[in-house]
Amino acid sequence: MDVLEAVRARRSVRKYKPTPIPDDVLARVLEAVRLAPSAKNLQPWRFILIQDAALKAGIAAACVNQTFMAGAPVIVAACGLPEKSYARMGRYMNSWPVDVTIAFEHLVLQAQAEGLGTCWIGAFYEEEVKALLGVPAEARVLGLTPLGYPDESPAARPRKPLAEIVSREKF
Ligand SMILES: Cc1cc2nc3c(=O)[nH]c(=O)nc-3n(C[C@H](O)[C@H](O)[C@H](O)COP(=O)(O)O)c2cc1C
Repeated sequence: MDVLEAVRARRSVRKYKPTPIPDDVLARVLEAVRLAPSAKNLQPWRFILIQDAALKAGIAAACVNQTFMAGAPVIVAACGLPEKSYARMGRYMNSWPVDVTIAFEHLVLQAQAEGLGTCWIGAFYEEEVKALLGVPAEARVLGLTPLGYPDESPAARPRKPLAEIVSREKF
């Protein structure tokens, strides 16, 4: 599957089969994470794989009761390490949310290429997620995703036309 094919086919999946993910498939998804670029190549991230049923249920509850998450064989939590990232990217911001987002999207696209579904989860109570996963105070949770074989085939959601989002030479 080429990159544009994966991008075109990806959907946010909110229903999963319980089928386990083979080790070699999961390894390739994680390899895509590992190879992501980051500011100054600092790689300020930690990806936590959650497979325990009770823990998955707790995480789903901490994600404002998005119970569908627990139906996937794996939930991934993407964490950032602000103290180990580039503090003043562009002279104004810490790079960690950008770094972790890029690695997260690598995961999403490789998952798609492997026939797996994902769904960015940005609605969660960070302190609850941190407590459940033993995330240290200095680390942050950027987002989560269920990871597993889709049990639904959602239609493509609309996007703005290119003319609305791209301009040439000036804003
Ligand atoms: C940063 C971010 C946070 C999101 N948070 C949630 C979420 O908490 N729960 C959910 O079901 N979907 C969440 N989504 C998925 C979006 O609703 C979805 O990407 C959007 O509606 C477009 O649909 P598509 O991903 O199928 O193309 C999130 C997506 C992004 C990028």
